[in-house]
Amino acid sequence: MEPVGAKIAIVGAGAVGTSIAYAALIRGVARTVALMDVNERKVAAEVLDLQHGLEYVPRATVLGSADPQVCADADVVVFTAGAKQKPGQSRLELAEATIELTRTALPPIVDAAPHARYVMVTNPVDVVTYAALRFTGLPRRQLFGSGTVLDSSRLRFLLSEHCGVAVQNVHAYIAGEHGDTEIPLWTSATIGGVPLLDWSPLPGRPALDAAARDRIRDDVVGSAYRIIEGKGATNYAIGLAAVRIVEALLDDEHRVLPVSSLIDDDAVGLSDVCLSLPTVVDAAGAGRRLPITLSDDERAGLRASAQTLARMQRRFGL
Ligand code: 2OP
Repeated sequence: MEPVGAKIAIVGAGAVGTSIAYAALIRGVARTVALMDVNERKVAAEVLDLQHGLEYVPRATVLGSADPQVCADADVVVFTAGAKQKPGQSRLELAEATIELTRTALPPIVDAAPHARYVMVTNPVDVVTYAALRFTGLPRRQLFGSGTVLDSSRLRFLLSEHCGVAVQNVHAYIAGEHGDTEIPLWTSATIGGVPLLDWSPLPGRPALDAAARDRIRDDVVGSAYRIIEGKGATNYAIGLAAVRIVEALLDDEHRVLPVSSLIDDDAVGLSDVCLSLPTVVDAAGAGRRLPITLSDDERAGLRASAQTLARMQRRFGL
């Protein structure tokens, strides 16, 4: 395990960026955690607050600055800077302001940390990832988005509750857009090794029929909206999910994660968009996508999701 000396830089010291920093410290993924934010007072205060907890976590240093040089020589840069999602607002509506910010903020960071792997978290993450690839010229393997890693953990949690099986034994992915057109990949999902579509409920548990699966899918898609209605932002689960991706990179894990990467091979009947599919994440970044079995509906859903994202890209002149 190499991350002892690793440095991660987190761009954006808002609710998401600081939750990623907090999770990274508690999980001990890096020796240095650097926070960058244009708001100097805010970043200084967040750094102090995190430093005051260093006694309780694996050995680490926390730095912060408004200067992109704070990201110098980072092994992984996690980009969370962007406009905040308001109640009822879709992720895609955030696009314009955030894409402009990516255009100006990211290149100086890439100059400071040219060899880092870049994980885009800012929403709408698929379009922001596509824009970031354009603005930086980095290869698709080195820069990718957190995509539906969080949505997939929401799906696994809900299936776990529904079926009465530990979340670690539920293997199921959400694919496509991180947003309203995302789709669960039921055909390839398993629970404790049993194909999900063959699942017989345990005694006292409800059926996992098509109606139940639809409800669970709707629950996943509505999750962020409900959390934002209640507390203004989602932060803890994305903090943990982003750190999971960082661990896969730093430990060269070859872990299958549904990150959002550039589709350049017509895998879903459409190329030149960023979207999520189960992908092997290793030290070099987002590697090969798994050759998963899709039903006709799943294939059509992915294609529709890709078309939505391609339209967004065109709308923003990307
Ligand atoms: C989430 O899904 C808002 O994208 C954020 O929690």
